[in-house]
Amino acid sequence: MSDITQVIILGASGDLTARKLAPALFAAFQDGLFPHEVQLVGVARRPWDDAGFREQLIANSPKAKDHQPDKWQAFLANTHYVRTNLETPADFAALAKSLDMLCGGRPADRVFYLAIKPELFLPSVQNLHGAGLLAQEDGRSSRVVVEKPFGTDLTSARYLNGELLKILKENQLYRIDHYLGKETVQNLLVFRFRNAFFEPLWNQKYVELVQITVAETVGMEGGRGGYYDGSGAIRDILQNHLLQLVALVAMEAPSSLAPKAIRDEKVKVLHALRSFADLPDPQANLVRAQYEGYTQEPGVSPTSETETYIATRAYIDNWRWGGVPFLLRTGKHLPSRFTSIRIQFRMPPHTLFGSYQECHLRPNAITLRIQPDDGIDLSFEVKEPGQGLVIKPAKMTFDYAEQFKKRTPDAYERLLQDVITGDQSLFIRSDEVEECWRWADSLREAMAGAPVHQYPKNTWGPQAADGLFGECEGRWLKG
Ligand code: BG6
Repeated sequence: MSDITQVIILGASGDLTARKLAPALFAAFQDGLFPHEVQLVGVARRPWDDAGFREQLIANSPKAKDHQPDKWQAFLANTHYVRTNLETPADFAALAKSLDMLCGGRPADRVFYLAIKPELFLPSVQNLHGAGLLAQEDGRSSRVVVEKPFGTDLTSARYLNGELLKILKENQLYRIDHYLGKETVQNLLVFRFRNAFFEPLWNQKYVELVQITVAETVGMEGGRGGYYDGSGAIRDILQNHLLQLVALVAMEAPSSLAPKAIRDEKVKVLHALRSFADLPDPQANLVRAQYEGYTQEPGVSPTSETETYIATRAYIDNWRWGGVPFLLRTGKHLPSRFTSIRIQFRMPPHTLFGSYQECHLRPNAITLRIQPDDGIDLSFEVKEPGQGLVIKPAKMTFDYAEQFKKRTPDAYERLLQDVITGDQSLFIRSDEVEECWRWADSLREAMAGAPVHQYPKNTWGPQAADGLFGECEGRWLKG
């Protein structure tokens, strides 16, 4: 067992390092959560030295002024920079030497975090391998963290998996999806499988519809237009973050909390997601749209058809979920930022109060508020006090902040700690990523030729998306 881990960020001059990764490492360091010494090493092409890199971290860390000054100084003192061109193999030999020197010749566990353009994933890993940096000798480990997007479709993801797995073992490869590091997302398994109330109802017999939304108020800020235009809402959010929520909400109980047991169950449910090609009318199950003005954004093609909004009606063809629609939606420039999962229950079997012939807003739902205002709401109906029988909606609410009154760690904090300790439960396995692409590709194929609706910024997207709900199935949540 090594007594030091080097976290080496490739692409350290990018904004992920200063905004997310360095603050996450610092927070864990400040709270004393690391099992041993952790050294941060930034790697990029910019002509910086240690001092220059530290200055960047100080200037761009969102909360640098709130850090405990002595701890922040100690953290920065163990932060280094090695200038490297990721496409030059000789630079990696020099990097290997620098890394050895930085840990004073001690055998170090190494985490290589690829915060770089996807085109550089493979050459960088090949170069790390060429310089002997991925060898796992003398009980020390070497792990590689890959940011999304992992491929752009099933074929490219398979190719990337195939090539990376020629060099790395699956247990060295950490495909990150930061949604899995969110506390509320981790809570999904606890909520479902620790509480006897809900699980018996969590199936097609009682659940009528599941609605999942990732709504964002942001657009193409930070010069993201170029990247986003080649990606779109399906590849940017639906294929990864949103499908991970689907997997956790719909999977069977794993036999244990071992990473393999959890990932096996997730992959089964992703595999059961019905391809759009198997729907009788695929285009009736999707609505794509663009916010007005998108094609004038810097970096975006003026004739772009890239979707900034996508809504779909999906199905999971298995025993638990047969016939239950999963309505999935994500979009940019919507009126509020929220991610939530709403499990909508069927009406009771017999009508005592009012007529069920008419459409009736379904009274029973569990809403899992993933962010912000993390919490859980149970909705039901009660009798209003007074003469006569007037039925009114009511709600029971659980609120994380109110209940626990403590800081919620950022997703990256948890995920980086897991990489350092070697726990892969919250990372995506190769077969999972491929199943997500299989379904996302079928959606993209079905979408070809479908209208590209327009929506004004700061509205809930095109009205056509309401048509994804059946007549009495309800409507999209608005925050
Ligand atoms: C990223 C996407 O993966 O997730 C962004 O590339 C998106 O487009 C972001 O804004 C959303 O993350 P969060 O944690 O703010 O919901």
